[in-house]
Amino acid sequence: MKTEYHIPVLLETMNMYLINPKIDKHIIVDCTLGGGGYSELISDNIKEDSKLICVDKDINAINHSSKRLESRKANIFFKQGNFAEIKNIVNDLGFNSITGIVADLGLSSYQLTHEEGFSFMNDTAIDMRADKNSSIDASQILNEYKESQLTYIFETFGEIKKASRLSRAIINFRKTKKLETTGELVNIIQKEYDLKKSVPVKFLSKAFQALRIAVNDELNDLEKLLASSLEILSDGGRIVVVSYHSLEDRIVKNFFKNNEIKNDMAKGFKILTKKVIMPSYEEVKRNSKARSAKLRAAEVVLA
Ligand SMILES: C[S@@+](CC[C@H](N)C(=O)[O-])C[C@H]1O[C@@H](n2cnc3c(N)ncnc32)[C@H](O)[C@@H]1O
Repeated sequence: MKTEYHIPVLLETMNMYLINPKIDKHIIVDCTLGGGGYSELISDNIKEDSKLICVDKDINAINHSSKRLESRKANIFFKQGNFAEIKNIVNDLGFNSITGIVADLGLSSYQLTHEEGFSFMNDTAIDMRADKNSSIDASQILNEYKESQLTYIFETFGEIKKASRLSRAIINFRKTKKLETTGELVNIIQKEYDLKKSVPVKFLSKAFQALRIAVNDELNDLEKLLASSLEILSDGGRIVVVSYHSLEDRIVKNFFKNNEIKNDMAKGFKILTKKVIMPSYEEVKRNSKARSAKLRAAEVVLA
């Protein structure tokens, strides 16, 4: 059976919020191309003289999805890069402002199953870099960070309580040998917490997610993207963010709120999703990876 690169989450809802029907000629940036599901639908829904800029920091996503979208009529640009650099990416392509930004955060299913060190289900080198050119990988963090730094990562990004226990177990392990594989980390966790085979999945997910967020500096990148969005979106331009972690959702929610248009502001957001949007029961049943998704959208308004 051919496995899908990624099943898009909240696909139609994303499209409905992203494309402002009052704008005729769009310039839209899909910041997280992944398997190209979002970009495919967007390119079907914008006119031919519109542009779609597809960004991903993972070269595998660019290679896969540029093939998938080869036959599309809309003008599509592909760029391997970090969405934190969206201003430079857009400017380098010759645009000063754009009409839409979408970011579907986290990992694609392909990354989880085929790339090294993201999943506790496969025993591989513990890498976790979405961009293999970036300097720090999970192994470096696990082998070089101090106990307090590891504890911060597991508590803040993984929401693991009393995580110093886990950090100490890692530090004890690395006295004996360098921690190099996902299997070694799984063993450390299972031994320390005596998880056996009962319910380790949730705990393991949290620990792996925490490391992934730290390796890829995901929260800082999101903050940079949001700050740039207000600068580069034109009047009526929209931003849609789909997040899978409560910290990410809080960052998006607060950013929209703090920049909501008021009388004394020259430019601000009209919040389009007064309440956060989550996938339906049917969608989660079809695609369990959708279960933690939260979508928020806003439109730029000039006073
Ligand atoms: C959930 S997938 C996106 C799936 C996509 N919406 C689709 O329809 O297939 C997230 C993608 O975002 C990419 N990504 C994560 N953080 C990024 C960043 N800071 N800059 C660029 N791409 C990023 C990942 O490499 C991954 O391919």
